[in-house]
Amino acid sequence: MDSSIRATKALHVLVATAFLLLAAASAGNFSQDVSVTFGGPRTQIFNGGQLLTLSLDNITGSGFESKNQYLFARFDVQLKLIPGDSAGTVTTFYLSSLGSNHDEIDFEFLGNSSGQPYTIHTNVYTQGVGNREQQFRPWFDPTNAFHTYTILWNPQRIIFMVDNMPIRVFNNYAARGVPYPTSQPMRLYTSLWNADDWATQGGRVKTDWTKAPFTVSYQNYNAVGCVAGAPANSCNGPWQTQGLDANGRNRIRWIQQKYMIYNYCSDVKRFPQGLPRECGLPRF
Ligand SMILES: *[C@@H]1O[C@H](CO)[C@@H](O)[C@H](O)[C@H]1NC(C)=O
Ligand SMILES: *[C@@H]1O[C@H](CO)[C@@H](O)[C@H](O)[C@H]1NC(C)=O
Ligand SMILES: *[C@@H]1O[C@H](CO)[C@@H](O)[C@H](O)[C@H]1NC(C)=O
Repeated sequence: MDSSIRATKALHVLVATAFLLLAAASAGNFSQDVSVTFGGPRTQIFNGGQLLTLSLDNITGSGFESKNQYLFARFDVQLKLIPGDSAGTVTTFYLSSLGSNHDEIDFEFLGNSSGQPYTIHTNVYTQGVGNREQQFRPWFDPTNAFHTYTILWNPQRIIFMVDNMPIRVFNNYAARGVPYPTSQPMRLYTSLWNADDWATQGGRVKTDWTKAPFTVSYQNYNAVGCVAGAPANSCNGPWQTQGLDANGRNRIRWIQQKYMIYNYCSDVKRFPQGLPRECGLPRF
């Protein structure tokens, strides 16, 4: 073999190996990446770390957190929610920093009576202040199959996605006086718990404990981002500048028009002193 062909072959092998390594590094493994926060054995891991279930019974719920803390990252996970009567239960997938002026980015799934729709609840806290709820109806049954939920948090914006469709954007308007999370590292948290004092139809529908234990499944967890303490250039990737293109803006307009059921920016009664500043700035 002539040496240039040998070199080319070697390069191909090298490139192929690099791709394999990248793929291996980016697929999450629950057994390695998370720790249980409460509920002990109610968190179970299957399939070599690919599938995790949380359960809730009349004693307690359960939850886990990422071992890593991140300063900007993209988190994807697939969730299959509680089928049938899930009234009173709340399933969560959120990011949070620590301390009193904490930042937080929330996905919460509020259960309902059999045959009634789940509510997808989102919120953003900056410097300890939330009050930025937006809620959606899923356009599919979130209990009969896995669907992908994504929180993207980069220096320019936060994007909430469902099955890769953007449903909410929170832009970095720090220059316009709206606090944005830029300096406090966050962990990913999940939980399944009983909130029947408020979660379903305003607390009127209670958890039916004869249906317990309730179980939700998480799979294909993937976090790509800047691990707190790691070198700054170790986390470069397209997620760092990801935003919405024209197609994404069309989709989010359509989703918000058809499936948004609550928007704090439209709730003028709640903010008699005036709506929060970001409500008057471009949404996407
Ligand atoms: C995930 O991690 C566990 C514990 O380290 C290991 O036993 C398992 O093989 C890993 N799964 C995969 C798919 O690599
Ligand atoms: C909780 O559920 C278990 C199993 O169904 C039952 O035996 C027990 O009495 C319940 N405990 C309470 C405090 O309701
Ligand atoms: C549950 O279903 C009722 C009736 O369809 C609906 O009004 C409510 O928003 C649903 N979700 C929750 C979390 O209560």
